[in-house]
Amino acid sequence: KLDAVIFDLDGVVTDTAHLHYVAWRDVAKEIGISIDETFNEQLKGISRMASLQRILQHGGKAAHFSTADCEELCARKNNRYLATLASLTPESILPGITALLQALRGRGIRIGLASVSLNAPVILNALGISHLFDYCADASRIVHSKPDPEIFLLACRGLGVAAQHAIGIEDSLAGIQAINASGMASVGIGEDLMGAGLLLPSTRELNWHRLDVYWQRLHP
Ligand code: G6P
Ligand code: MG
Repeated sequence: KLDAVIFDLDGVVTDTAHLHYVAWRDVAKEIGISIDETFNEQLKGISRMASLQRILQHGGKAAHFSTADCEELCARKNNRYLATLASLTPESILPGITALLQALRGRGIRIGLASVSLNAPVILNALGISHLFDYCADASRIVHSKPDPEIFLLACRGLGVAAQHAIGIEDSLAGIQAINASGMASVGIGEDLMGAGLLLPSTRELNWHRLDVYWQRLHP
């Protein structure tokens, strides 16, 4: 039986994945590193500091920056990101998400959030949907970013459900790997998400019926 659906936030519930990219792109440019959207795919689902490390490595500058420098760069990125978050309203929820959340609630299926973003609570508040989530895993409590399953397992535990009775929804490759490693069933939003149990091009195609059909197929 399906007991819970656990959502990633950035790129699934709202389009903050793009805002993360713009903030990193600008900070990277200031230190002479250029990143594009293809490279950005690698940053999805990865914590703030781990993202910076990947950018520095990509630019061949990992050795040029001290721990203190890295902390300053992360703070700079986050300030820029926070400034762009000011534009978030309930209208920024991606198509299909609100209807799905309501359908799940109507069926008594628990709803969780598994984002490694420390800004997740602020974002859910700005979108006006905090009350629709039964449990949000606290990113400050996890040690390993996705693709480690830690954040999804924390969400399952918080919801009081077994991973085998839950579906996870993700827009990143690291996220799909995390879901699969947790023992949950995985739904990918986007293209080229290898390993996703069900792959949908966008949240527009995401609805209760499709999740139900997918679950029935896995558990006939
Ligand atoms: C999510 C996003 C990443 C972001 C991470 C940390 O996983 O997909 O792009 O780096 O959260 O977000 P934060 O808001 O804490 O910097
Ligand atoms: Mg994401």
